[in-house]
Amino acid sequence: MVKPETLKNINEIRADFPLLNKSIYNRRLVYFDNGATTQKPQCVIDAVSDVYLNYNANIHRGVHTLSDLSSAAYENAREIVRSFINAGKREEIVFTAGTTASINAIAFSFGERYIKPGDEIVISHLEHHANIVPWQMMCQRKKAILRVIPINDNGEIIFDEYLKLLNSRTKLISVSQVSNALGTVLPVRLIIDAAHSADIPVLIDGAQGIQHGVVDVKKMNCDFYVFSGHKIYGPTGIGMLYGKEKYLDELPPYQGGGDMVDKVTFEKTTYNELPFKFEAGTMNYVGAIGLGKALEYVLDIGRDNIAEMEQDLLKHATDKLSAINGIRIFGNSENKIPIISFLIKNIHQYDAGMILDKMGIAVRTGTHCAQPVMDRFGIDGTIRASMCFYNTIEEVDSLVEGIEKVIEMFS
Ligand code: ALA
Repeated sequence: MVKPETLKNINEIRADFPLLNKSIYNRRLVYFDNGATTQKPQCVIDAVSDVYLNYNANIHRGVHTLSDLSSAAYENAREIVRSFINAGKREEIVFTAGTTASINAIAFSFGERYIKPGDEIVISHLEHHANIVPWQMMCQRKKAILRVIPINDNGEIIFDEYLKLLNSRTKLISVSQVSNALGTVLPVRLIIDAAHSADIPVLIDGAQGIQHGVVDVKKMNCDFYVFSGHKIYGPTGIGMLYGKEKYLDELPPYQGGGDMVDKVTFEKTTYNELPFKFEAGTMNYVGAIGLGKALEYVLDIGRDNIAEMEQDLLKHATDKLSAINGIRIFGNSENKIPIISFLIKNIHQYDAGMILDKMGIAVRTGTHCAQPVMDRFGIDGTIRASMCFYNTIEEVDSLVEGIEKVIEMFS
């Protein structure tokens, strides 16, 4: 692998993230809840402050200098996102509040445009609630049917069962790139190819995929791709929706308001061109500018480098945790990102999580907004350590020590 000239070592990387230096209960923070949200590098914090300190004004609305500056920075952020995912055109990049907002937008607009009673939408058993509930709502509205690809004991989709679900009534496939609860990487390319051979479009939920490697929507050939800024070191409340132009052109807007219109009269309104047709009201332009900076930061570290560092962490953590007597790991696919979902003996996940917190170790506990995954394994939740490239092998070892202490306390 060719490393960029500017390759930073782990201490330099960690120094970019001020919050990683924090102490919790007088212990150095070990932040293993990156699947829920990531910490922010100083450059993102600075980019956001810079807007408020130096050029804050509403976008696309004024002829004055500040509005020109903020509009240009917002559109520059759109270009950074476009290039980051290798979309063909800026018209195909719509800013939203995040993954959930993006999926709801498509579920509404796609439903209005294309779905008839008896049509079918296919999702997988691995989905986060954000990629289940909007489709259920759409199915209820349109009298359509939701079909679910089953998973095996390793937490992988059963591909043959997926193929069996495809038929002439199937109108859309919507699956995660990566499971937030188990870390499984789905075979999205194969899923998309099979769907396309039956002319069915595919939405990929990239909430847990975008931050762990190179995403190229042209190569992937998905029809829609969505992600949230806060999971890739950017601000909260900003995300994006990529859609192939042929679909975005045909889909009706899902929200009405300022900026998404061309001409408004009481009798009739015509809509703005793409992507503005889908950006009603004052957009989170500050968030978008912060997201652009976060993506530049990720490019600077190098996405292949990030993937390599994260695979080292995953391997070390899997080896160490599996060696602890009484640990059950859920999600044992060969193809994973650094998420380990586990239970310790018969200790409740909330008790374990609270004790780990007292040692300065932040993990997530519960269902991870993926109750069907928990039901599949007959459990009511797990402890989830979700790591990323700024975590260290020493931090993984602290987690292992922490788990051993939890076991000792309950024995
Ligand atoms: N979807 C986020 C998670 O997996 C909140 O934790």
